[in-house]
Amino acid sequence: MPTEKTDTTIALPPPKTRGVQSLEEVLQRRRSIRELATPPLTWGEIGQLLWSAQGITNAEGLRTTPSAGALYPMELYVATADGVFHYEPRAHAVTRTLDADVRAELRKLSLDQDCMNAPCVVIMAAVAERVTKKYPEVGDICVKLEVGHAMQNLLLQVTALGLASVPVGAFDPRKLRKLLRLPADQEVMYLAPVGRGK
Ligand SMILES: Cc1cc2nc3c(=O)[nH]c(=O)nc-3n(C[C@H](O)[C@H](O)[C@H](O)COP(=O)(O)O)c2cc1C
Repeated sequence: MPTEKTDTTIALPPPKTRGVQSLEEVLQRRRSIRELATPPLTWGEIGQLLWSAQGITNAEGLRTTPSAGALYPMELYVATADGVFHYEPRAHAVTRTLDADVRAELRKLSLDQDCMNAPCVVIMAAVAERVTKKYPEVGDICVKLEVGHAMQNLLLQVTALGLASVPVGAFDPRKLRKLLRLPADQEVMYLAPVGRGK
C-alpha cells in the first residue's frame, strides 16, 4: 500500500504537434489491444499521451478536448513503477502524489483483467461539481461525455505513437479513489493501461 506523499515534479518534454501518419490512417488503425509489453514508456511518450487528453493548446487555456462551458472537470493521473503522478496541464508537468507502485492493486480493483498488466496506467478522474453547479440538469452527463472525448484523443495518440492500449471501464471507483488517495470530490471515471504491443 502507498505510504508516502511526495512533491517531486517532473517537467515533461514539449508535446509534438506534427506526426508522420494522417488522422485517417490513425482512425483506421486504432484497436483495443489487451496484451501489453511491460518495458516502461518514456516521459516523452507519457507526456504526449497526457497532452492529447488534456493539454493546453491556446493562450486562453483551452485544451485538446472540448469541455462544457470550458469548466474542465477532469484530473489526470498516471501510475507507473515509480509511483502515481498528477498531470498539471498549465505547466505540462507531473507531480508525484504517491511514492509506491500501485499497478497490481489497480489491476485487482479492475476485475483482475490481464490488460491491466501495463507499464503505465492513465487514470481519468473528474470533479463533477465543477460542471453540475453551473449546469445542474446536464452537468453529470456532460462530464461523462467529456471523459469520452479525452479517452478517444488518448487512444488515437497511442496509435499514432505506435503504442497499445484498451479503454477500461470495469473497475470499482470507490476503492480506486481510496487506493489513489484522491480528494473526496474526485471520482475515477475511466482507465487506460498503455504499453507496447506484443
Ligand atoms: C466505456 C467502455 C468501457 C470499456 N471497458 C473495457 C474493459 O473494462 N475491459 C476491456 O477489455 N475492454 C473494455 N472496453 C473496450 C471494448 O471492449 C472495445 O472497444 C470493443 O471490443 C471494440 O473493439 P475496438 O476498441 O478494438 O474497436 C471498453 C470500451 C468502452 C467504450
